[in-house]
Amino acid sequence: MDSMQLGYTLPMSWHENKRIVVGVSGGIAAYKSPTLVRRLVQRGCQVRVVMSRAATEFITPLTMQAVSGHPVHQHLLAAEAEAGMGHIELARWAEQIIIAPATANCLANLAQGRSDDLLSAVVLASAAEVVVAPAMNQQMWQHPATQRNLTALADNGVRVLAPMAGAQACGETGPGRMLEPEDIATLLVGAAPPRLLAGVAALITAGPTWEALDPVRGLTNRSSGKMGYAMAMAARDFGAQVTLISGPVSLETPRRVKRIDVSSARQMLEAVSAYASQSQWFIAVAAVADYRPATVAAHKIKKPAATAAAAKASQRMSLELVKNPDILAAVASLRKAPFSIGFAAETEHTLANARQKLMNKGVDMIAANYVGERAAKATDSGAHVFGGDENAVTLLYKSERGGRAEPAIQQVALAKTDKYQLAVQIIEHGAPLFARKAKAVKSAAK
Ligand code: C5P
Repeated sequence: MDSMQLGYTLPMSWHENKRIVVGVSGGIAAYKSPTLVRRLVQRGCQVRVVMSRAATEFITPLTMQAVSGHPVHQHLLAAEAEAGMGHIELARWAEQIIIAPATANCLANLAQGRSDDLLSAVVLASAAEVVVAPAMNQQMWQHPATQRNLTALADNGVRVLAPMAGAQACGETGPGRMLEPEDIATLLVGAAPPRLLAGVAALITAGPTWEALDPVRGLTNRSSGKMGYAMAMAARDFGAQVTLISGPVSLETPRRVKRIDVSSARQMLEAVSAYASQSQWFIAVAAVADYRPATVAAHKIKKPAATAAAAKASQRMSLELVKNPDILAAVASLRKAPFSIGFAAETEHTLANARQKLMNKGVDMIAANYVGERAAKATDSGAHVFGGDENAVTLLYKSERGGRAEPAIQQVALAKTDKYQLAVQIIEHGAPLFARKAKAVKSAAK
């Protein structure tokens, strides 16, 4: 487990919402186009669909709208459509255009650079990569005219996903079957991650807390929320239903993630408490203030009047602070506690402190990172040293070896990388521990 090799690497673009136009031309393989759109959406892509008139004879625009989540584009120069996202705008929007199925007629149109229907006009007007997944009768595929068109398209930089050979809808056997949607999606944007967290409700805290002193001031910290948001995206991509309890951050809500905004530690605890018992995973990434002001002034706290005596007295001011609840410890000590992961940012004795946290908070795993150097670089000018896009952590968890009283602690160092990639690895290491715990709970209940 220490040297666990990842079976795959998620592409960096995974969560970047790649913008893909799916073009559908009129062939029987169009019945597979909704599945292709679903596979792309599941991989985090944004999809817009363009259908030829003939394609609508095989599959309805309503179906394509339902799977892509957006109205389908069908007509060139339709006033209503052009008033929305017009064909030029759509061509500019696309990062990639996949035509699946691409019929012999569609390939001929593209090879000639025609633009008399919406699909060919969008292709012509776009700088995006164009990919075609041909599907047709085997004679049509093998015809020299089709092969010439394919050569011309390849010369123009179009990527051709050659069809498979096999039984055809027309009853013949030979080359011309469109690739399966899953394979096309993988060739376009990479393999889907395994659904390690299918059926799991994951609760995640992120960002700093804000502990008010008065209506305009408060105590907070430099947490950007990026690591917590990356955990939320990774958990989502592994198939979890994610609820993200977020302190004040300036980050966009990840798609398909339920976000609840809170401000103070106590509000965060309240929101977490509402979801903890229905969650199977809890990942506490938030930098929660350990203390809060004992009282919150109803009005802005004023400096004393400017008399000499008052000025002397106002050289110092004391704040009384009281301890905040430890959200992670509270969740981890629930009778039916979710599988819990804590983060430990330390400036010294990183691993020793993390070990203590693992034992004291009763959590299943701690992700420890050393922030000393970065903290030392922090300046009063507010350099965003904590808002970086990369991080490195050491994971600590109790091993199966060792007794209950003094379990051995496993340590896995994860090298510095993009926070999303790191989140992916943390979940990959957590998944078998979660399964082990679930099994133990089940057999204890027997
Ligand atoms: O004890 P320390 O604050 O270093 O522990 C850090 C871990 O505990 C983080 O996972 C953090 O989200 C969590 N925590 C919490 N509530 C607190 C303090 C820390 O959930 N009041």
